[in-house]
Amino acid sequence: MKQKKDNFSSRLGFVLAAAGSAVGLGNLWRFPYLAAKYGGGSFLLIYLILAVTFGFALLTTEIALGRKTGKSALYAFGKLNEKWSFIGVLASAVPIIIMPYYCVIGGWVIKYAWVYIAGSGAAAAGDDFFTGFISQPVEPIAWLVVFILASMAIILLGVNKGIENMSKVLMPLLVVLSVVIAIFVITRPGATAGLVYYFKPDLSKMSANAFLAALGQLFYSMSLAMGIMITYGSYMKKEDDIEASVRNVEIFDTGIAFLAGLMIVPAVFVFNNGDTEALKAGPTLMFITLPKVFDSMAGGHIIGAVFFILVFFAALTSAISLMETVVSIFVEKTGKSRKFITICVTIYTILMAVPSSLGFGIWSHISIKGLSILDMWDFLSNSVLMPIVALLTCIFVGYVVKTNIVTDEVKASTDKFKSEKLYVVLIKYFSPILIVLILISSILNTFGIITL
Ligand code: PHE
Repeated sequence: MKQKKDNFSSRLGFVLAAAGSAVGLGNLWRFPYLAAKYGGGSFLLIYLILAVTFGFALLTTEIALGRKTGKSALYAFGKLNEKWSFIGVLASAVPIIIMPYYCVIGGWVIKYAWVYIAGSGAAAAGDDFFTGFISQPVEPIAWLVVFILASMAIILLGVNKGIENMSKVLMPLLVVLSVVIAIFVITRPGATAGLVYYFKPDLSKMSANAFLAALGQLFYSMSLAMGIMITYGSYMKKEDDIEASVRNVEIFDTGIAFLAGLMIVPAVFVFNNGDTEALKAGPTLMFITLPKVFDSMAGGHIIGAVFFILVFFAALTSAISLMETVVSIFVEKTGKSRKFITICVTIYTILMAVPSSLGFGIWSHISIKGLSILDMWDFLSNSVLMPIVALLTCIFVGYVVKTNIVTDEVKASTDKFKSEKLYVVLIKYFSPILIVLILISSILNTFGIITL
């Protein structure tokens, strides 16, 4: 019986969808501030080297596992070796946890895009605008519902008509908008000093921490260890070249992160007269500092609107990849229709997102070790589960089913895997060691024992 499967129609479709997942909030606000903090050019270099080694090995592995087995994250491991099917359970837990809180932030982004489009950018620059907004009980929830419904609509259209077509429009647009904003910012008076700050290698800041920060960032930024690339790999056609696709996704993801630095670092640098402290703030950089920066520039409100639309696109394509991963897991598990499961997942996401949203307002008294409800989920998924899943994946491929499961799959389309030797060394030795380092350091970091 021929199985009817909704696939990506071409390699380009796959690459843009996978890049859509990879390019997200991590690229747009986290990367620029890490680069600024850890010595500019030297951080960029470390990041680049890690992307073409560690990032390359893990991305290739996940896509190949997905395509080889044709399964979602839940069953891909078990299909190759039943004893290890628990990795699939752990990998599936990650998107199930991330999806709701990612939508809370997605809701904030739509709100800001809306405020700028409505011409109220000046209000967004007010001191209490952000905290006033997120602490409300109803409004942020309304926006997160809008965000989830937008993702749901695309998932209901399917892999080819929904995800692929959407990515084919949004991803090129995202590149154009990033370039427009970056050009606008670097042509502002005084921006050159900020550019120098962004590019100039500062060797004194090259430390073990800089290295770990780059590694952790890369991991999250390429949507690794969340089951996403396994799922997308399962929709990739046999004749499409995995190795070339991985290279393209890396270039896309790193390119947008680099451009984000070009727009944000000089802008904040000029605004604060060379004081880069504000760059280090997490969400407050995007939602508090940047609106002030836009407010201070001529034409800044228009750029603000373009910027938040850009962020919205980036967040939406990432949320879609999360939702698709969760939907595919439950369709396989229950055998129910895609439509039914998508609606169930949407309801689950809304119910689980509400506490994370309220955690900034009426439920702010609920916290563990100073982490809000949203931060707790973030910690559990990003700092604990993801490194564990990645480590198990390396052990599984390197030592249990053996690397030719992946290398043969890569060769299935083009007969050659140019970096095969490098891949084997990376997956068996280099990557597992690095992951153990990330795991230990991110836990110590969260509990304030070290600072990254
Ligand atoms: N890779 C995305 C980023 O860099 C993050 C992401 C998280 C994507 C969860 C999908 C799911 O922002």
